[in-house]
Amino acid sequence: MAFDLPELPYGRDGLAPHISEDTLNFHHGKHHNAYVTNLNKLIEGTAHATASLEEIVKASAGDATQAGLFNNAAQVWNHTFYWHSMKPGGGGKPTGKIAELIDRDFGSYDVFATQFKAAGGGQFGSGWAWLVLKDGKLSITKTPNAETPLTEEGVTPLLTMDVWEHAYYLDYQNSRPNYMASFLDNLVNWDFANQNLADAS
Ligand SMILES: [Fe+2]
Repeated sequence: MAFDLPELPYGRDGLAPHISEDTLNFHHGKHHNAYVTNLNKLIEGTAHATASLEEIVKASAGDATQAGLFNNAAQVWNHTFYWHSMKPGGGGKPTGKIAELIDRDFGSYDVFATQFKAAGGGQFGSGWAWLVLKDGKLSITKTPNAETPLTEEGVTPLLTMDVWEHAYYLDYQNSRPNYMASFLDNLVNWDFANQNLADAS
């Protein structure tokens, strides 16, 4: 089974001006697409050819002989999750269950926002910042390169923010902090986090 590049849940200009159409043309049309193409080449004619994306990510995680397969499969999964972590007109304070849990587990939205941006800013080089549900509590994590909490036992990813330079360089140049602030203020999709939370319970 060959994988297709998933459609964005909005137009390529849907996140402008915070993330430009140019960025999404490269990020979705070139980077994400390349991971899909590479993944399809790597699984063709192998036992993975009939597996789901999640199965491939989990089966190849932590296996140095499968690093290429893991990197491409995980990047396909991470990017699809990232596109849904944003929406046109998103951003700002959460609502619903996720708002309750953020207050319960971080004390306040502001504490959460500070810690989430610190995770993204503290990821040296390429990687991801995540809001996850771990053992019934919200937690913030960061992962390098293609690593993903999808492979961790008892952890449910709720939201992610791509902090690879390709996510923000055209719009924010070297300022990862400005990109992260805009992600939270203008883009983050709390409906998606609430849906993932509901699916996990
Ligand atoms: Fe990316």
